[in-house]
Amino acid sequence: MKSGSLLIGLLCVLSVAVVQADEPIVIKFSHVVAADTPKGKAAERFAELAKEKTGGRVEVTVYPNSTLYKDKEEVEALQLGAVQMLAPSLAKFGPLGVKEFEVFDLPYLFDGYDQLHTVTEGPIGDELLGKLSDKGLLGLAFWDNGFKVMSANKPLKEPKDFRGMKMRIQSSKVLDEQMRALGANPQVMAFSEVYQALQTGVVDGTENPPSNLYTQKMHEVQKYVTKSDHGYLGYAVIVNKAFWEGLPPDIRTALEEAMAEATVYANEIAKQENEDALVAVKESGKSEIIELTPEQKAEWMKRLAKVHREMADRVGKELIQSIYQATGNDMGKL
Ligand code: LMR
Repeated sequence: MKSGSLLIGLLCVLSVAVVQADEPIVIKFSHVVAADTPKGKAAERFAELAKEKTGGRVEVTVYPNSTLYKDKEEVEALQLGAVQMLAPSLAKFGPLGVKEFEVFDLPYLFDGYDQLHTVTEGPIGDELLGKLSDKGLLGLAFWDNGFKVMSANKPLKEPKDFRGMKMRIQSSKVLDEQMRALGANPQVMAFSEVYQALQTGVVDGTENPPSNLYTQKMHEVQKYVTKSDHGYLGYAVIVNKAFWEGLPPDIRTALEEAMAEATVYANEIAKQENEDALVAVKESGKSEIIELTPEQKAEWMKRLAKVHREMADRVGKELIQSIYQATGNDMGKL
């Protein structure tokens, strides 16, 4: 009798062990934007590819729209191992101790995606991602979003129009300096709080690529959207280093392949997604789209060039110079 119950006990333990061995490895991927955005779609694509390439041994669960964590919390959650993968915008790496990523926030640093890719797909990008490993993180890829518009309830056509405006920004010193250079008062705020802050007048305006503006319905509470393309917003996909290095090597290789394919997809759709979002904003009739004249754009550039000089010590003079060289676009000359 005794040995019978021992045997049953042993069988139970064994079956639990078998179930555990069969259990998929779960990767929680948290992000703050809508599912229907370049980042949201790429995260879903990665999840599908990860499942396919590991024969179901890895299950990636994507939590969009700050449903799990807001901006600052998600980074803490990654460090603590509560989530395994994030793709924060490059403007949000300062608190992680890698201020160099704020270089991407410099106004007019890139004139279009081709110039951006000379950095994100070249040695400068690799070196930047490499800086994360000292922080217990691994940078797996850069994912594109797009070039930013400015929005408000008054038309923003010239730098003087920004005077005294409360503008929501991401947590980047370069963006803070950019808004100050325009004469505005920058206010750092989590992405999930922006819509309400615009609606209630806690802030007067903001900046974001059209895909974010549209999917958060910000255009419904902003009468004017200026197509200024004054800066870039994109992402680095990051994982907890200990978690990643602890994965079985075959799984890790399969996930690296999945990430490479998801990255190609992300960077193929981003431009079109943003163009479509701007058309949708226009068609909604809720905001008027303002195109800058060449003279107005030149004025914005002249006013914002000083941000490159003022932020050189923070993000790195050599890094800025190497980007000017890679892109051929030297704002420092203005
Ligand atoms: C923002 O906070 O405006 C963006 O970083 C959101 C995002 O992840 O695109």
